[in-house]
Amino acid sequence: MTDDRPIHEVDPEFTALLTKDLQRQNSSIHLIASENFASQAVMQATGSVFTNKYAEGYPGRRYYEGCEFIDQMERLAQQRLLDLLGGVHANVQPHSGAQANMAVYFGLLEPGDKILGMRLDQGGHLTHGSHVNFSGKLYDFSSYGIDPETERIDMDALRAQAIEVRPKIVLAGYSSYPRHLDYEAFRSIADEVGALLMVDAAHFIGLVAGKAMPNPVDYADIVTFTTHKALRGARGGAIITNDEDLGLKIQKGLFPDAQGGSLYNQIAGKAVTFHEAAQPEFRVYAQQVIANAQAMADTFLARGVRLVTGGTDNHLVLVDLRSVNEDLTGKDAAKMLDSVGITLNFNAIPNDPRPPFRASGVRIGTPAMTTQGMREEEAVQTANLMTDALEAYGDEARLAEIEESVRALARRFPPYPEGFVGYPG
Ligand SMILES: Cc1ncc(COP(=O)(O)O)c(C=O)c1O
Repeated sequence: MTDDRPIHEVDPEFTALLTKDLQRQNSSIHLIASENFASQAVMQATGSVFTNKYAEGYPGRRYYEGCEFIDQMERLAQQRLLDLLGGVHANVQPHSGAQANMAVYFGLLEPGDKILGMRLDQGGHLTHGSHVNFSGKLYDFSSYGIDPETERIDMDALRAQAIEVRPKIVLAGYSSYPRHLDYEAFRSIADEVGALLMVDAAHFIGLVAGKAMPNPVDYADIVTFTTHKALRGARGGAIITNDEDLGLKIQKGLFPDAQGGSLYNQIAGKAVTFHEAAQPEFRVYAQQVIANAQAMADTFLARGVRLVTGGTDNHLVLVDLRSVNEDLTGKDAAKMLDSVGITLNFNAIPNDPRPPFRASGVRIGTPAMTTQGMREEEAVQTANLMTDALEAYGDEARLAEIEESVRALARRFPPYPEGFVGYPG
């Protein structure tokens, strides 16, 4: 029989850390663009007995027995995902967004094949060809950037580059680019050079699911994403293809090429995530995420803070700190803001003169603060408090006052006022 005592009795040392992080989550304003707060139901699913099952392979074709309900559950997750976003073939097994991308490359390419993706230092992701990542080590990546004047992707330059490079995959998608992608232009460029179009929608698929953004599944051959960012669910990755054959090749690129048995508790959480994202309330949430980002952007601009591209179409706002204080690095700003209760991350801005580990910008995302329950009024307050803090950098007395205001606001919007399932905190 398993030990059925509650966690604080079994392991007080671990529980002390859990309590502290719950308190941290409940007492700050959360602006890390890739984070969110999963529901009780999602955490119940990820903490369920599905954690116990080994199920290598895919539904109906397993290397282990006892998979009857796992098969049904995985199929439920796949079907819910296709119902939510469209497409022909869904894979819910990737442990993460990075592994979803790995599966696509492994399934469709040979080492040394060419891919055209976005530059990491101008908004792309590590798995889009960074030399420190498997993607840059195994494949021949070329990178497109943004126009130095508009700070937007220049589709004409991208077309010319694609014609010169002749990649097998044109990859659209970003970790820090605050504007819509021109899917029609991406599609026509991929068609012109005979490439597949892949969209890495990790950051924004939740806004697509909530019908607040155009759907890349309508344009791309392959769409990869994470389920824990704007989608607000269990941690992990997923892939949708618009062609069964491509889906089957990528399926093999994931298992057995990249993973063994998948994380069935996470797939359980994804099934619940897709159910939640299909509800009408999720549409309201997705619209609010963007409204909050725009309210913050307008507030920064009114205070004279420069933003990359001058604003936002999505959940991201990229602040160029040099417009507030020439000497303040992204790293120092992020640390200071965390100390006053505003948690975010430092980020390179386009053509950043500083090295990436110091950087000149901070990245703001509104998915988590919106789940906290904040709306435009609080978004404006948050942007004002953040600007106050940046302007007061080094003035400890003033920062202490600002922290009081931040904590007072955050305490009104705790993500988990009652603790979480089975653990009141
Ligand atoms: C665009 C993009 N792709 C992939 C990933 C990787 O996701 P994970 O951290 O789950 O591997 C991220 C995560 O930050 C991302 O922003």
